[in-house]
Amino acid sequence: MKLLYMGDVVGRSGRDVVIGRLAEIRDRLSPDFIVMNGENAAHGFGITPRICDEFLAAGIDVVTLGNHSWDQREIMPYMDGQPRLLRPLNYPAGTPGRGIGVFAAPRGRKVAVIQVMGRLFMDPLDCPFAALERELARLPLGPGGADAIILDVHAEASSEKMALAQVAAGRVSLVVGSHSHVPTADAQILPGGTAYQTDAGMCGDYDSVIGMKKDAAIFKFVRKIPGERLSPAEAAGTLCGVFVETDDRSGRATRVAPLRLGGRLAEAWP
Ligand SMILES: [Fe+2]
Ligand SMILES: [Fe+2]
Repeated sequence: MKLLYMGDVVGRSGRDVVIGRLAEIRDRLSPDFIVMNGENAAHGFGITPRICDEFLAAGIDVVTLGNHSWDQREIMPYMDGQPRLLRPLNYPAGTPGRGIGVFAAPRGRKVAVIQVMGRLFMDPLDCPFAALERELARLPLGPGGADAIILDVHAEASSEKMALAQVAAGRVSLVVGSHSHVPTADAQILPGGTAYQTDAGMCGDYDSVIGMKKDAAIFKFVRKIPGERLSPAEAAGTLCGVFVETDDRSGRATRVAPLRLGGRLAEAWP
């Protein structure tokens, strides 16, 4: 199966490059299943029901979120009725929405998507390792389970992402990081057949501070008084993603490569 994951979409620049390049991506890569992180899609902060509907209508199969899940409060009631929008699994019991879903893919195949959130340099949450173990224990990869499993690790620290990936290695098809908004150059297949990249990178304007306008972001570091609210940089976005091919019999990855299109970063086709 061919899987595509696209990192955090930041504001209009990110939305435009994703929606604008999707037809070409379909032509050249023929992905069977597309996951995208949408936690910064609504002017940098969260996602609205309208924006989520647009992505799903454009052919994105699943949208994941992260620490910005709740920035647009109207998403909470929407989330309970939209299984294709996932928030991190390890929020406390009773949190709106869900952190895992199993979805139909072409030719009768099933793809599971899970998102967990890290705790290093982030808000305290339930243990992502324990939450992941509980789900993987009842969801085997391969015959009798899911044909592919995609794990989105939304975390600040590369060490925590890599540790979660090593724990999941051999049990999922892809572990991909989100949240840091910068693509890492470590795409690889871990022992056991799990594709991995520490961070997919954002889809947004890279002439910025992780997608936000430079001046206000720098002010926040330099001055310790309230400044202008952060808002997304608005020049052409670069789409950053990870492309994976899996063996349909085992669900394990056979190939992984980054995808980068448009904007300022060097183009890369898998
Ligand atoms: Fe983000
Ligand atoms: Fe985040």
